[in-house]
Amino acid sequence: MKKNSIPEKMQAIVLPAYNQNIIRALLSLKVEEKDIPKPKNGQVLIQMSAAPCNPSDIAFMQGGYNIVKTLACVPGFEGSGIVVDTGNDKVSKNLLGKKVSCFTQDDRDGTWAEFFLTETNNCIILKDEIDMDQAACLAINPITAFGLFEIALQRESQAIIQNGAGSQLCRFISALAKKHKIKVINLVRKKEVLNQLKKEGEEFVLLSTDENFTENLSDLANQLNATTAFDAVGGETTGLIFNAMPKDSEVIVYGGLSGKSISEVNVMELIFKDKILSGFNLNEWIEEIGTARFNEISNELQEMIIKNEISTKIAGKFKLEEVIKGIRKYIGNMSGGKILFITKK
Ligand SMILES: NC(=O)c1ccc[n+]([C@@H]2O[C@H](COP(=O)([O-])OP(=O)(O)OC[C@H]3O[C@@H](n4cnc5c(N)ncnc54)[C@H](OP(=O)(O)O)[C@@H]3O)[C@@H](O)[C@H]2O)c1
Repeated sequence: MKKNSIPEKMQAIVLPAYNQNIIRALLSLKVEEKDIPKPKNGQVLIQMSAAPCNPSDIAFMQGGYNIVKTLACVPGFEGSGIVVDTGNDKVSKNLLGKKVSCFTQDDRDGTWAEFFLTETNNCIILKDEIDMDQAACLAINPITAFGLFEIALQRESQAIIQNGAGSQLCRFISALAKKHKIKVINLVRKKEVLNQLKKEGEEFVLLSTDENFTENLSDLANQLNATTAFDAVGGETTGLIFNAMPKDSEVIVYGGLSGKSISEVNVMELIFKDKILSGFNLNEWIEEIGTARFNEISNELQEMIIKNEISTKIAGKFKLEEVIKGIRKYIGNMSGGKILFITKK
C-alpha cells in the first residue's frame, strides 16, 4: 500500500469498559470506524495481517491485568503486518514496506484493527519466508519461552516441570527442551489435554486433579531431578509443585491463570531445602538482555518457525466483526490453540 493510498478511516474492535465478568466484557465489544493515526518520529503505522487473542487480552478486558489503558480503546497486544507509513526519522523510515511482528503495552489503541500505530522499537523485522499467522504470535510467547528456558539452562536442570502445559507457550518450552535433551514433566488440569499431549509425544504428563497427584509428582520430580519449574497457574498447585521438588529447586511463576493467590508453600521446604519461588516478566527480561541479544533471539526463533521446529497452533481465523464468535471459541478450549483476527483484505 502506497502512503498516498492509506485511507482516512479503519475498522477496529473497541472495548468500551472493563468488566470482571468475561462474558459481559466479550459481549460489550463492538466493531467501530476509527481515524487511522498518523505516525510521528520514532513511530510506524502497520497495516495488520493478523492478531491473536492471548490470556493477557482476556485479563485486560476484565480489568485484571497490570496494563490499564484509557477506555474506550482497541484491545490486542501483538500481531503482524506491513509498515505502510513512518515518522520522519531514519530508523523508522528504514521499516517502510517491511513485514513486521509488532506489539505494544502503551496507553493507546492495540492490534485488533485494520491499522496499528506503535513505536518503531516495538517491531521485529521479519524474514521473507515466515508465515504471517505465525509471525502474529512471535513477539510474546516464543520470546517468553526462550527467556524462561534460559533459566533452566543456567540452573543446569536435567528436567523441568511446567504447569498449564497445554498452552502454546509450554509447547515452545517443550520444543526447546527436546533440542537440549532436557526432560519435561507436564501438568494439566483436563484429561483431554493430557491425552492430546501424550499423542503429541510427551512422555510425562500428570493430571493435577488426580487423587495421587502430589505423590506422583514428587516421585517423578525426584527421579528425574527436576530442579526448575515454570508455573502459569498460581493457586495451591504452585505450592504443591514447590514442595514436591528436590533440594535446591526453583519455581518460576509467569502467569496467574487460576486467578488465585499462591498457597500451600511448605515453610520447611523453603527454609531447609534452599528452594526459591520467583517471578518472570517478559518486558523486564527484554530490557535486561538489550537490543542486540533480543534481535539474535528473535532471528533464531524465526529460523525455528520457518523450519517448523516450533509453531503456534491456530484454532481458527476470524474477521473483526466475528470477534465474539472468535473469543468464545478460544475461551471454550484454550489448549486447542489461538484464534487470530485477520484484517488484511
Ligand atoms: N510473564 C510473562 O511475561 C508472560 C509472557 C507471555 C505469556 N505469559 C503467560 O503465559 C501463560 C500461557 O500463555 P499462552 O498464550 O501460551 O496460553 P494459551 O495457549 O492461550 O493457553 C492457555 C492455557 O492455560 C490453561 N489454563 C487456563 N486456565 C487454567 C487454570 N485455571 N488452571 C490450569 N490451567 C489453566 C489452558 O488449559 P485448559 O485447556 O485446561 O483450559 C491452556 O492450556 C498465560 O498465563 C500468559 O499470561 C506470561
